[in-house]
Amino acid sequence: MHILAIDTSCDETSVAITDGRRVLSNVIYSQVLLHKKWGGVVPSIAKRAHEERIDFIVERACHPRGGGDPDLFDSVDYIAVTQGPGLAVALEVGIKKAKELATKYNKKLIAVNHLEGHIYSAFVQNSQGNPKRDFNFPYLALIISGGHTEFVIFKNHLEYEIIGQTLDDAAGEALDKAAKLLGLGYPGGPVLERLAHEVDNVDSHNFPRPMLKSKDLNFSFSGLKTSFYYFLKNNPSQASEVKLLASSFQEAVFDTLIKKTEMAIKQTGINNLIIGGGVIANMRLRNLMRSLVKKYQGEVLFPPYKYLTGDNAAMIGVVAGYKADKGLFVKNIDELDRIPRWSL
Ligand code: KG4
Ligand code: ZN
Repeated sequence: MHILAIDTSCDETSVAITDGRRVLSNVIYSQVLLHKKWGGVVPSIAKRAHEERIDFIVERACHPRGGGDPDLFDSVDYIAVTQGPGLAVALEVGIKKAKELATKYNKKLIAVNHLEGHIYSAFVQNSQGNPKRDFNFPYLALIISGGHTEFVIFKNHLEYEIIGQTLDDAAGEALDKAAKLLGLGYPGGPVLERLAHEVDNVDSHNFPRPMLKSKDLNFSFSGLKTSFYYFLKNNPSQASEVKLLASSFQEAVFDTLIKKTEMAIKQTGINNLIIGGGVIANMRLRNLMRSLVKKYQGEVLFPPYKYLTGDNAAMIGVVAGYKADKGLFVKNIDELDRIPRWSL
């Protein structure tokens, strides 16, 4: 069963063709350079960039090896699209294109929640069907991206229960804001990782670990960001210690994630973890998570290829495959509309 999937939830325009868990093609056009000078994603710029590029990206996904090849679109059974959560004006572009293709070629349409995609990203395979991981439910899933920080019990295919989430900023957003305060540009996560690595991930400043006293599994990163802001303001002479500050801030965020994850393991009794989202590209965080699950004789799965950590349509196509198996198609294509704050 072949699916053409589209994701335009934020600042990446992506189209993939998947067959079950296998990715036959996946094209990601990042808008990072367009948003960089504004220090974050600008909705009107994102919308226009998605609109300008979407046709070209559909075309590229259908011809991964160039124009002369057979058109992968000929084998497509269904069209899938991210319905939310995400930036409304960005989601609209992908949904419009998906409706257009489904109507024109008389295909059924499958609407996917972007967060389901991040959870399934650990199970996405390359075109050869690797890696071969079997599902072993239930999982404790943690999504850590620029827009989300959520604990979810992944009970079975397409069955989720949210057990904790951020009350304000997402973890990736906190990293991006700290990097911006340090004048390191956007997105900040990868830059902080590099600088922190250069000083062996030292924690010289011991910034606050938010929400660790509360017993619930929610996060709050805005206080940490504020205390970082005031630290920089009150200690201008320290601003030259960029590496130490980057490393200490990153450690404060990661230590919070690790401690809350440990609480989640204890409270749920689930030591089988999945972690998805842009922030898990970070090797320091992966190592900390590996050590944590080892302590509980558990296992942790990450997206097997780096492109699967950030936003991509491949993960959307893989979820859509499971939805198609269960007959979960959009009933009325004309009425499909974006849900910017769609919860799992
Ligand atoms: O999943 P994603 O691409 O987009 C959203 O759905 O939000 O996540 C983007 C976030 C950004 O905050 C970015 O700074 C962070 O992921 N990120 C990283 C790394 N690479 C990307 N954070 C830490 N370390 C990295 N290597
Ligand atoms: Zn995402």
